[in-house]
Amino acid sequence: MTRDDLLALARKAARHAHAPYSRFGVGAALLLDDGRVVTGTNFENASYGLSLCAETVALARANCDGDLARVVEVAVIGGALAPDGALSGGDPVRPCGRCRQTLNEAAGLAKRDIIVHCASADGRVVETHALSALLPFAFGPGDLGIG
Ligand code: THU
Repeated sequence: MTRDDLLALARKAARHAHAPYSRFGVGAALLLDDGRVVTGTNFENASYGLSLCAETVALARANCDGDLARVVEVAVIGGALAPDGALSGGDPVRPCGRCRQTLNEAAGLAKRDIIVHCASADGRVVETHALSALLPFAFGPGDLGIG
């Protein structure tokens, strides 16, 4: 599974974004250590603060199947959402703070630094970061005396 394959799956997932309030669609695709992929898309709510990001939805799906410790990479793509599900925009989408912290939970279980690909909707920009660079000095189980 190449970076671009993973991004294509993230883009496909974003077609199902429930984003009637922001009209900003995001797709995330998690690559597991056995080659499987788990996707997520943002899921907004009329009570705005209850909205869920694509990355968090994908991680919760992985957790449901007992696969949280298997996450190796994540691809994220997003942009303005057209009625037909197409995305537009030239800026890469980087995981929000809560998603970084949630990814850190998976990284801790896996004892690995998750690779994060952040792409723009027009496909022109793809940044690749280590999660540890996006979330330095992370709060984690060690701070609670666990693990
Ligand atoms: N969003 C994500 O799904 N992932 C991110 O990393 C950033 C933001 C969503 C949340 C909301 O539905 C919309 O994008 C606008 O903030």
